[in-house]
Amino acid sequence: MARPFAPWRGFAAMPQQVRRLAVVIVLLVAAYFTARHFLVPRTFGEKGHYRAAAVDSIAVLPIHYAGREACAMCHPAEVAKKAGSFHRGVSCEACHGPEAAHTTDPIGHKPTAPRDRAFCVRCHAYDPARPTGFPQIDPVLHNPVRNCFTCHNPHDPTPPRPPETCAACHGEIARTKAVSPHAQLACTECHTADPRHAQAPRQFLPSKPASREFCGRCHASDAPPPAHLPDARPPKVDLATHGPRYVCWQCHYPHYPEAR
Ligand code: HEC
Ligand code: HEC
Ligand code: HEC
Ligand code: HEC
Ligand code: HEC
Ligand code: HEC
Ligand code: HEC
Ligand code: HEC
Repeated sequence: MARPFAPWRGFAAMPQQVRRLAVVIVLLVAAYFTARHFLVPRTFGEKGHYRAAAVDSIAVLPIHYAGREACAMCHPAEVAKKAGSFHRGVSCEACHGPEAAHTTDPIGHKPTAPRDRAFCVRCHAYDPARPTGFPQIDPVLHNPVRNCFTCHNPHDPTPPRPPETCAACHGEIARTKAVSPHAQLACTECHTADPRHAQAPRQFLPSKPASREFCGRCHASDAPPPAHLPDARPPKVDLATHGPRYVCWQCHYPHYPEAR
């Protein structure tokens, strides 16, 4: 006699741990379909692996960034300058902030310009994690106090306007000399500097005095008074007997010579 179809009897006959496992699996499958029904958005999958309605809900968000092309219409000079510069890869709005409102109402919404040092330092402060060759500076030592844009045009940061005075980079020497007996001597009296030294200092090093006779031009007992410094009265020494065998700057610091 065939037994009536009654799967629960077989189920009841199974070992206890298998029955428990089966219950857990059934609950998990049910939870999965319930979650899928309530949690997955209706339009998911219509256009790919995302919610198709997201396209519309994103499209209604207000636009903050105008994009780089937008600035060209009204600021062709800045755009052209930046395009040929080292900042060609840095978008206008990376520095000026999101400016969509400004493009539709230029006078009513004025962009800000990041003029403080802290802004440039975000990208240029020395950090060994940056790519090799990326131009970096030590913000504490690199021309402190002054704002970066006074030397570097932000739309074309290179070549920076080279400093006009030696003191810009050799401040300590210049300040020392200014209060010394050599105050009236220009740096170029003793150093011949190629103008390119101010742009690539270590590639074009200035000359330095090489011999005792150099100082002797003004200080030797038979030296004529320096014609270009009519008020100067350099004290005289006898080169043959005064500190012979040594160059003068072994005893006299040339930027602050003392007779002691
Ligand atoms: C429809 C024309 C127009 C567009 C597009 C435009 N600007 Fe302007 N922008 C102006 C005008 C006009 C001024 C001058 C406002 C003034 O000086 O009163 C100005 C001034 C500026 C200033 C100087 C603000 C100041 O205080 O001196 C900056 C910076 C600037 N724009 C950046 C941008 C950027 C970045 C973009 C692209 C996202 C852009 N502009 C797009 C018209 C425009
Ligand atoms: C690296 C940051 C940076 C980028 C990139 C940049 N700017 Fe500027 N911009 C500045 C700073 C800083 C000033 C203020 C300069 C000053 O006061 O001399 C300024 C000033 C301006 C001014 C005011 C006029 C002036 O020259 O003083 C305008 C207009 C302007 N920027 C437009 C633009 C446009 C358009 C672009 C994209 C082509 C752009 N900027 C990209 C930093 C930047
Ligand atoms: C968003 C990051 C960013 C900001 C902010 C930024 N820069 Fe730059 N800067 C760059 C990049 C990128 C380069 C090009 C690096 C390269 O070519 O390897 C560069 C190059 C330079 C150079 C090197 C030019 C040369 O001769 O090699 C100078 C100088 C410079 N920037 C100055 C400034 C100044 C000043 C400011 C502030 C007004 C500023 N930067 C803000 C990213 C930035
Ligand atoms: C007093 C003028 C002056 C000021 C202010 C100044 N710089 Fe410079 N900067 C120069 C000169 C000149 C050079 C090139 C000579 C050198 O290497 O010192 C230079 C070089 C650089 C370089 C290296 C370029 C390269 O090719 O490696 C970067 C980056 C730079 N400056 C960024 C800045 C930043 C950022 C600021 C503000 C925090 C700033 N500078 C302030 C004059 C200045
Ligand atoms: C842009 C910054 C800068 C300016 C401007 C500058 N120098 Fe220099 N100078 C340097 C640097 C950097 C060195 C190299 C220092 C080092 O190697 O230790 C240097 C080195 C020197 C040296 C030493 C050369 C050697 O063989 O040791 C002399 C001398 C000198 N400069 C004189 C001058 C004179 C004179 C001027 C003005 C006409 C001047 N410098 C302007 C940055 C500058
Ligand atoms: C009276 C001549 C004289 C004058 C003026 C002079 N120097 Fe010197 N300078 C020297 C001599 C000599 C040396 C070499 C010192 C040594 O080798 O120890 C030197 C060395 C240097 C050095 C190399 C670093 C060092 O301290 O040894 C620098 C940088 C320098 N001078 C910059 C300047 C600057 C900038 C000025 C103007 C503010 C200036 N010098 C004015 C004679 C002079
Ligand atoms: C262009 C002329 C000139 C040259 C070159 C020159 N000096 Fe002088 N020096 C002077 C003058 C001018 C004074 C005196 C200024 C005063 O006291 O009125 C002076 C003063 C001195 C004094 C005396 C300081 C004191 O306390 O009275 C010493 C030491 C001296 N120089 C050393 C040197 C040395 C070393 C060199 C070479 C590196 C040198 N000078 C190159 C013009 C020169
Ligand atoms: C061995 C160290 C030494 C050397 C090298 C030396 N001096 Fe002197 N110099 C002195 C001393 C110490 C004094 C102060 C005492 C004196 O007048 O002899 C002095 C004084 C001077 C004075 C002041 C003289 C006065 O009447 O006020 C001048 C100028 C001077 N030196 C220039 C030079 C020149 C130029 C050279 C190189 C040719 C040189 N010195 C090399 C040690 C030296």
